[in-house]
Amino acid sequence: MNTTVYDDRLAEALAAIDAAADAEALEAQRIAALGKQGWVSAALKTLGGMSPEERQEQGPRIQGVRAAVSEAIDRRKAALDSAALEEQLASEVLDLTLPAPAAPKGSIHPVSQVMDELAEIFADMGFSVATGPEIEDDWHNFTALNMPESHPARAMHDTFYFPQEEGAQEVQPRRMLLRTHTSPVQIRSMVEHGAPLRIIAPGRVYRSDSDATHTPMFHQVEGLVIDEGIHLGHLKWTLETFLKAFFERDDIVLRLRPSYFPFTEPSVEVDVGWQDVGGRRVLGGNGDDVGHGWMELLGSGMVNRRVIEFAGLDPDKWQGFAFGVGVDRLAMLKYGMDDLRAFFDGDGRWLAHYGFSAFDVPTLSGGVGAKL
Ligand code: DAH
Repeated sequence: MNTTVYDDRLAEALAAIDAAADAEALEAQRIAALGKQGWVSAALKTLGGMSPEERQEQGPRIQGVRAAVSEAIDRRKAALDSAALEEQLASEVLDLTLPAPAAPKGSIHPVSQVMDELAEIFADMGFSVATGPEIEDDWHNFTALNMPESHPARAMHDTFYFPQEEGAQEVQPRRMLLRTHTSPVQIRSMVEHGAPLRIIAPGRVYRSDSDATHTPMFHQVEGLVIDEGIHLGHLKWTLETFLKAFFERDDIVLRLRPSYFPFTEPSVEVDVGWQDVGGRRVLGGNGDDVGHGWMELLGSGMVNRRVIEFAGLDPDKWQGFAFGVGVDRLAMLKYGMDDLRAFFDGDGRWLAHYGFSAFDVPTLSGGVGAKL
């Protein structure tokens, strides 16, 4: 291609770009010039076959052509965007004198509602609400919870890791990740506030998992009590009181089964009894009775003394219990949804059906269960 050809093609391209009537036409011009098969890209490729002298002269020339085309595209894009905005502003009119809609629009998502219910119930038992970052480091999410680098429990978490830092060694103790559970807030609360301590920590957690009952992001609430002389009896009473208030039934019966979590010792899995009411499983009653059964609900246990040590407290003086439960699961059990994925679709019809009125603030006196 000789130099006049560039000038001609450039002039032609600039004219076409300025004449592009919409984003689509402009994109076609961009592809024709700067796309992989475009003429500017082809011209750039010819540089490789030139002698050094020729390249010294042609290089800046072709780069100049490329810059001119790309600036013209940006300019045209800005002009088209602002014209579109002007048009939209001129055509969309909002009449602020119209009366409010007869039926209120918008609703509180069941996850938010359940989190408010939990805060209300636990505040009454002297707990405060704690938070921690969703972008967490390996130490808080795993190591300080008694899951060292090689611990098999780590593999069960399907963790979303951030890329290792450039040039980092094999093991990066503070490698960043999306927290896989709310348990790291235990560590952060103990480090920040010391003991005694009573917190719940509701929030988002992330795992690489997806089906009708698993989504890559979901919600948990963590509970932690640290004090002197705490034992399993306190744990059982607290969970029983919480679940009776939450499900608004006095006949909630719990079954504690031995289990294993690295951060608790001993660890217990908590099942709740249900009964068959016309083909529906309704929580309540002793799961061992005829027509009844047990459903696994949450994990808990006495805080492992190593975790108390990791958080900088003296495990000979301070003991505690902890628990973790899925907030989405609590919402499904209480309000009867069966597909977790719908929680995060943002479908207005689903929200209109399962959402709560913004005026329906859960209180213990008024009832934590919203009036549907
Ligand atoms: N972090 C656990 C999980 O995500 C849940 C859990 C179990 C939390 C036992 C606890 C606990 O605090 O004591 O699977």
